[in-house]
Amino acid sequence: MAKIIGPGSLIVDVTGFAPHLPVAGETTKGSTLRFGPGGKGSNQLTAAHRAGSEVKIISRRGDDVLGQILKKHYETEGMSEEYIHVDPSGETGSALIEIDESNAQNRIIVIFAANELVTAETVRAAEKDFADCDAVLTQFETTVEAVFAAKELAKKYGKPFILNPAPFIDVPKELFDGVDYITPNETEAEQFTGVNVDSIEGCRAAAAKFFEMGVKHVVITLGVRGVYYTDGTTELTVPAIKVKAVETTGAGDAFNGGFATAIAEGVPVDVALKFATCTSAISVTRLGSSPSMPYRSEILELMKKEFNEEL
Ligand code: RIB
Repeated sequence: MAKIIGPGSLIVDVTGFAPHLPVAGETTKGSTLRFGPGGKGSNQLTAAHRAGSEVKIISRRGDDVLGQILKKHYETEGMSEEYIHVDPSGETGSALIEIDESNAQNRIIVIFAANELVTAETVRAAEKDFADCDAVLTQFETTVEAVFAAKELAKKYGKPFILNPAPFIDVPKELFDGVDYITPNETEAEQFTGVNVDSIEGCRAAAAKFFEMGVKHVVITLGVRGVYYTDGTTELTVPAIKVKAVETTGAGDAFNGGFATAIAEGVPVDVALKFATCTSAISVTRLGSSPSMPYRSEILELMKKEFNEEL
């Protein structure tokens, strides 16, 4: 079983569904409210866990009502809580999510709360598990110093460092130097490079900007247009799989968890992209973010059906 570690966010998603989303000043009658485990970091590692990896998240939450939802999630899934720091007086991260039932699209306000106290020291305290892992995976919902520390440890032990640069925040460009795989979506790719990725030429130009910053492999997720990959020599695209989406929250996280699992297992990148695409496609057919992540057998079944590919 491949081992994946990284600093990542623990957040509870408070999700309201409505036939259409209100404009400013409007009140819309909604249909359902749900509370569930979320956070990009925790979603990605849940996806990796269900896809077959042993995962360790480095994170922080409060000892409050929302924190209990996350504790239950980790216990039910059987995922390690070794590096989850519980702050008795702290507030657990939360996200207010609105889902438009007509198209399954969302709008999210995220409150990082305790996640903003994940320090470089917190990450370094997990050094033994960086030495022992097969891949490091992180995002931008903890702190920049935590991401720097994770990259340093990944480099120290020669492990693939996968960075999902989400959500967009202003970071020093040096953070990208030495990143093995960067996995922005189309919006983030444009925000970090200033290049519109509406076309393959655009993806190529955005990737060139990431290469200038020191990134080695660029993976841009393009929603219904699939995924674009390049290492500067080879270029690949994988089409999206047509499914009936009910909620797209966490679709990118599913992709990253699936991708990290495949990279940690050492499979070729074209196969890793297909594995990740299948992980994401299944997740949008289910409600919730972490709860929507598929299991390895389901991913492999879809991979065989769509791409005639095995892991
Ligand atoms: O990527 C989706 C996630 O972003 C949600 O689960 C929410 O917690 C926000 O952090």
